[in-house]
Amino acid sequence: MRPQRFKTRITELFGIDHPIVAGGLMWLADANYVAAVVNAGGMGFITAKTFPENERFAAELDKAWALTDGKPFGVNLYMSNRPEHNQDLPAQLGIALDKGVRHFETAGLPPTEFVQRIKDAGGVVFHKVATVKHALSAASKLPIDAVAVVGAECGGHPGLNMIGSIVQIPLAVRRLGIPVLVGGGIGTGSQIAAALAMGADAVLLGTRFLVATEIWSHEAIKQRVIDCDETMTATVLASMRNTFRGIDNETTRAIAELEKQGVTDFDAYRPYVMGTLQKEAYTIGDPEKGILSMGQACVFADTIEPVEAIMDRLVDEATEAARHLGAIAVPDAKVAAAE
Ligand SMILES: Cc1cc2nc3c(=O)[nH]c(=O)nc-3n(C[C@H](O)[C@H](O)[C@H](O)COP(=O)(O)O)c2cc1C
Repeated sequence: MRPQRFKTRITELFGIDHPIVAGGLMWLADANYVAAVVNAGGMGFITAKTFPENERFAAELDKAWALTDGKPFGVNLYMSNRPEHNQDLPAQLGIALDKGVRHFETAGLPPTEFVQRIKDAGGVVFHKVATVKHALSAASKLPIDAVAVVGAECGGHPGLNMIGSIVQIPLAVRRLGIPVLVGGGIGTGSQIAAALAMGADAVLLGTRFLVATEIWSHEAIKQRVIDCDETMTATVLASMRNTFRGIDNETTRAIAELEKQGVTDFDAYRPYVMGTLQKEAYTIGDPEKGILSMGQACVFADTIEPVEAIMDRLVDEATEAARHLGAIAVPDAKVAAAE
């Protein structure tokens, strides 16, 4: 693990070495992966929805504590706009708090009642959104510690407005008083240095880690991520006001065709959007099955290697980019002399 190179409000708040945070990954962000991120100096979030049975979820948290040797890790709570999908969340939050988890990433609908429970337990929580407008709204209504804003390039939910990270990052920093995590398309250390230079407190990554050794998915899925360049993602379901960015595959093309035909009956989409398809795809190694979330940073995911190797490279590249900026900046004395 690399020594600390950057100190920000988020590294201080989370007690981590590097301002690199791995967001929740449905089906994939388990104890093995999250512990690897934590042990490499970042912060990771076990995706609660991936473990719907309470005992299984509790066991996963125990496993993560063992793998990190007591170093804190987090839990991701995603609030769907379909209430029937959120029924397990209150109990899962209770289990996480009972198990000593104090770091939370929330996403989806504003998690009003969860945030208060987390704060009452002395926890730290950031809410993830896709526009600065939503971030401002969440920060004004909820006692959250930080916000994460993801740009259109991201895997998963880029939102409906599809604002690119290069616009969103400085805007988020300018408008929000609380610490800001930024994500969407980040897969190199130079982007991390740029985000920090723009004033962000940390970066939030998903896609870059899909090829990590500790991610349990079948090697054929990782190979597909490696084979994809930045043009090989697709965005679908904007017509349902629930845009996804994932691997451009048979499933996203079938969905795009339905959308092109103007089909509005959700039942027509159901066979393609079921979450269980993703789990099957990851298990058997069929990259055509289901909407497999992946962002444009796939172009930077070029080798299957441990999380620590990816993190070390990101930190080295970010350090080098910061040095480069220092080296090309004209020294103050010269600027003063010229004035
Ligand atoms: C395979 C995959 C699954 C994801 N699942 C979730 C999820 O369950 N909950 C969530 O809040 N975000 C989820 N995300 C979003 C990530 O946490 C993160 O916000 C996003 O990947 C950052 O953008 P990037 O993909 O460009 O790095 C997922 C992303 C990917 C790639």
